[in-house]
Amino acid sequence: MDARLNMTASSADANIVSEIMRLKKERNAVILAHYYQSADIQNIADFVGDSLDLSRKAAATDAEVIAFCGVKFMAEVAKILSPQKTVVLPDLKAGCSLEDSCPPDEFAMFRAAHPDHIALTYINCSAAVKAHSDIIVTSSSAEHIINQIPRDKPILFAPDRHLGAYLARITGRDMVLWQGTCIVHENFSEVELIKLKAEYPEAPVAAHPECPGHILDHADYVGATSGILKYALSSPSQTIIVATEPNIIHTMQKQAPHKLFIGAPGMDGNCNCNICPFMALNTMDKLRLSLRDLEPRIEVPEAVRVGALRSLHAMLAMAPK
Ligand code: 13P
Ligand code: SF4
Repeated sequence: MDARLNMTASSADANIVSEIMRLKKERNAVILAHYYQSADIQNIADFVGDSLDLSRKAAATDAEVIAFCGVKFMAEVAKILSPQKTVVLPDLKAGCSLEDSCPPDEFAMFRAAHPDHIALTYINCSAAVKAHSDIIVTSSSAEHIINQIPRDKPILFAPDRHLGAYLARITGRDMVLWQGTCIVHENFSEVELIKLKAEYPEAPVAAHPECPGHILDHADYVGATSGILKYALSSPSQTIIVATEPNIIHTMQKQAPHKLFIGAPGMDGNCNCNICPFMALNTMDKLRLSLRDLEPRIEVPEAVRVGALRSLHAMLAMAPK
């Protein structure tokens, strides 16, 4: 097996797996996981998906407890949409560099400086920033939502400047961009990617729009994690270069074991520096403890929740069905 794929192999301890399954039943819990979680967490989850899919699942579940294996803003979305449920995140420190780049008070000033603009905000932000926004978008819904906004309405986009620049380019809209970035997607190396493409000239590149433009310029497909997965599985090519967080390769490999999925190289020449350090804080043992103790719990102050719910509902109404 290609060394770049070894990290996707699951090494879960059988005792922890059976304990999680027992606690899940006892708590009437559902385990939701993002594609960037480790292979063992993806394997035990009831549902693995992108940010939009996970929001919809959190809103629809009738479980009493949501064990959210992802980062904090995702678990907050689950709590905002399902306030009567207990939402636990295995490690409360699982944040996101995009959320960190956009403090709510600075975002409020940014909005106030552009009173005629509609505030379209990427879901990778705090609940307080969502409460200051008009419409939330995910990578999989942003283009579809922007195309429903009247063309003469100027747009503010926060917090990811690479996703914002990509959306401005494909929709032809003028957008004022907040200058945040994802530390993971910024880390891909164009020089190393060119070398890898030369090594596998038949392999298309599928990239997440959080990548900088100089990486997207080499992509055959640009889309959210769910779109990258669909593209990788349906492409007639047997080898695909994947320019997003490499844990998604686990799902690809499970669904198409005959194909070769290669993580795009980071600055160190392999894909290891592109593992999201925030997602990696969640482990099987922390998941077990969160189900046992129903901690750490996600709480969102009611005034913030109501504001954030408005912009999230706008997203759910406008997103592709
Ligand atoms: P997706 O909505 O494409 O799953 O992206 C979430 C994310 O955090 C990407 O870094
Ligand atoms: Fe945030 Fe980037 Fe990690 Fe996604 S990959 S959760 S955008 S730091």
